[in-house]
Amino acid sequence: MTTLTINGQTHTVDAPPDMPLLWVLRDLIGLTGTKFGCGIAQCGACTVHLDGVAVRSCVLPAAAVGDRKITTIEAVGDTPAGKKVQQAWRQLDVVQCGYCQSGQVMSAASLLAQNASPSDADIDAAMAGNICRCGTYNRIRAAIKHAAKEA
Ligand code: FES
Ligand code: FES
Repeated sequence: MTTLTINGQTHTVDAPPDMPLLWVLRDLIGLTGTKFGCGIAQCGACTVHLDGVAVRSCVLPAAAVGDRKITTIEAVGDTPAGKKVQQAWRQLDVVQCGYCQSGQVMSAASLLAQNASPSDADIDAAMAGNICRCGTYNRIRAAIKHAAKEA
């Protein structure tokens, strides 16, 4: 059995030791806001936070999480940075198909929580691992800057 703290709640799950966190979240707990894209840490769709830091849940065994606190897209709006990011996303109408966007929001929220005033290079570095096949990159960058101004 593995015990995890997810969005402020404790969950004990019967997961194989090598089961990625993504599948624990989606299949065992029912938090389906975190998406599967590539499964090999190349697209960012599965991004969640561990103690506020963005990680790829598709390649992270749930058993390796330990005491670190997991935040998913379902609760990132309860954090100051996550709330600003989600507001900016709505105001700038960032989303197209939406599939990549929970991962985009999680990476942006982690960036702003650690760096309240990111430069273009900081944004590029933080968001480089999040792929959007709809090409919303310009709006994502603008929304991160908008959210930073609200800080
Ligand atoms: S599904 Fe995890 S990075 Fe693509
Ligand atoms: S909004 Fe469609 S993949 Fe990013």
